Amino acid sequence: MSGTVLLTGAAGRIGAVLRGGLPERGWALRSLDVVPIVDPRPGEEHVVADTTDLAAMTGAVSGAAAVVHLAGVSGESTWAAVSHANIDGTHCVLEAARRAGVPRVVLASSNHATGFTPRPASGPLREDDGLPRPDTFYGVSKVAVEALGSLYADRYGLDVVCLRIGTAAPEPTTTRHLSTWLSPTDQVSLVDAALRAPSPGFAVVWGVSANTRGWWDLTAARALGYEPADDAEVFAEALVEVHGEPDLADPVHARVGGEFTTAEFDAEQVEERP
Ligand SMILES: NC(=O)c1ccc[n+]([C@@H]2O[C@H](COP(=O)([O-])OP(=O)(O)OC[C@H]3O[C@@H](n4cnc5c(N)ncnc54)[C@H](O)[C@@H]3O)[C@@H](O)[C@H]2O)c1
Repeated sequence: MSGTVLLTGAAGRIGAVLRGGLPERGWALRSLDVVPIVDPRPGEEHVVADTTDLAAMTGAVSGAAAVVHLAGVSGESTWAAVSHANIDGTHCVLEAARRAGVPRVVLASSNHATGFTPRPASGPLREDDGLPRPDTFYGVSKVAVEALGSLYADRYGLDVVCLRIGTAAPEPTTTRHLSTWLSPTDQVSLVDAALRAPSPGFAVVWGVSANTRGWWDLTAARALGYEPADDAEVFAEALVEVHGEPDLADPVHARVGGEFTTAEFDAEQVEERP
């Protein structure tokens, strides 16, 4: 399978990585963002639109084989900002896909949908181990993203794959990232697998590399065809030298959402940020 992918949030960090990698995997890109793309690539279509604009989104998805929906507020913010961009935006993307007959949508969820979930006493954590336990308004919006995906899969038969992304970054910069890193190469591989998996129906999978210190189960992601190539452990020695070995009892390491579960992310603190 190949064809045109509508990539929302294309001007962002993960968008930049996917704009580099997905064409090499055979996908033509229609790159959409609310801000203009400043570094157009050959063969790429461009759309400036807001994902909360249903009419614009219905036009933008027309003729696409799939949507990869990254656009939104990508960290904690006010409830108004997060709920509008992430919940209303995802609703518009799914509704536009349904109206235009686009059969598959890949949604950027987040580990913060279940950030308060503790590290299991033994064995890796599956995606469906317990209820979602969001750690922030941002995390709540990602629970809603997954719920909207589930609704559109069950009610309208769309294939919807939700990626519970860990830390998508060029390289790990904290000792928590030794567990949560999703390398640029693996960002492309994971999204490509989510686009190609035969009839996934509704799926929620962790989005991390094959990290030696990882504790989120990659069985479901691998079942889609994801083959991670990278392991954050190659950065461990340098990070541990600076920060020390992680204390696994510290909430930063003992909970899925790490720092987002600490008081620094209480809503009042966030509202007061500039
Ligand atoms: N980077 C990570 O480590 C990480 C981890 C977990 C989940 N995610 C999720 O992955 C997605 C992409 O993350 P990122 O790091 O590239 O984020 P980013 O903030 O770098 O990019 C987000 C992009 O979305 C665009 N955008 C925001 N609101 C929009 C709207 N209403 N309409 C159209 N465009 C809009 C922004 O202009 C921006 O270019 C986000 O949904 C984020 O929540 C990222």
